[in-house]
Amino acid sequence: MFRSKSLAVCAALLALMLALPADAAGQQATASKAGLNDSEINAALQAAHAKYKNLAEGKNADYIPALAKVDPNIYGIALVTTDGKVYTTGDITSEVSIQSISKVFTMAKVMEEQGADAIEKTIGVDPTGMRFNSIVAVEFAQKALGGPEINPLVNPGAITATSMVAGATRDAIWKNLLGFYSDFAGRPLTVNQEVFKSESDTNQRNQAIGYLMYAYEFIKSDPARATDIYTEQCSVNVNAKDLATMAATLANGGKNPVTGKQVMKAENVPGVLSVMAIAGLYDDSGKWLYNTGLPAKSGVGGGLIAVSPGRFGIAVISPPLDDAGNSVRAQRAITDISNALGGNPYAAKAHPSEKGRAE
Ligand code: DON
Repeated sequence: MFRSKSLAVCAALLALMLALPADAAGQQATASKAGLNDSEINAALQAAHAKYKNLAEGKNADYIPALAKVDPNIYGIALVTTDGKVYTTGDITSEVSIQSISKVFTMAKVMEEQGADAIEKTIGVDPTGMRFNSIVAVEFAQKALGGPEINPLVNPGAITATSMVAGATRDAIWKNLLGFYSDFAGRPLTVNQEVFKSESDTNQRNQAIGYLMYAYEFIKSDPARATDIYTEQCSVNVNAKDLATMAATLANGGKNPVTGKQVMKAENVPGVLSVMAIAGLYDDSGKWLYNTGLPAKSGVGGGLIAVSPGRFGIAVISPPLDDAGNSVRAQRAITDISNALGGNPYAAKAHPSEKGRAE
């Protein structure tokens, strides 16, 4: 009697485990919607963390004085799958300023408010091949190409995109933008006031870019206000999990896989990802895409996000940067992790029905 009762309990538990999703079933190595299991993801994250922990290349951005003071040893990794499972390793509580990664979400906001072609027609969706704050890139596009031939991920295009966000007052525009970023992260984000002040005191080049874009009639409202809001958006604090959740929302057709909120229209996501692919790491975007196949975006605060469409979003924060302004550890760690997990969307395998045909 006792024996058969315990057998019945075991059978019931087994049935329950088989019926439960992977996260509810604890350590079960269940393949997720993204085709990944817990142990392979955790192993990939931990291996990349250990491999690059002591890498001493690169240095913090210092043209924004507050960034030079950030601890260069901050090193956090997070991966969020499109079924909402969160994996982390290293320093996941420290925050860095989001910097240029914000440009992705402002671009998305403008597309949501003004339609998919607003960015393409007003700013352009082509790489400049130049540094992120290049003025020559604007002059070249204007004089040699004669139109909107840059993109919203370099400073001139980004300040223009910020100038296009809806709102009757500065306050209303800011709340609109910050609320949108927060929906991607799945929590209310806040501004690092020290970074905002430090960049506001030293951003004369961006102010010049704002006025130049106004002179060429890309910006149609007060350029000083656009640059100021842009500077504030770059100062939003994020940790690795926030960034990975934002990336995973893009990987999941605009629906935050952790909160379940549809943050942006699925139809606008491919446009955002394609501009990340051609310009997300500035003049090193081609090299990055060649090695990973992943749309990505860096920030001079040390963050880097990458998106494996339909599968996962990944983020690393680590402040030391290379000459192009991209985090050294973050590029290496994401490349290793994505390659270990088969994240490259260009690396399609032959359809199973093809197996054996050529053999
Ligand atoms: O406008 C700037 O210079 C900074 N707020 C952002 C630059 C940035 O993050 C470039 N990224 N790698």
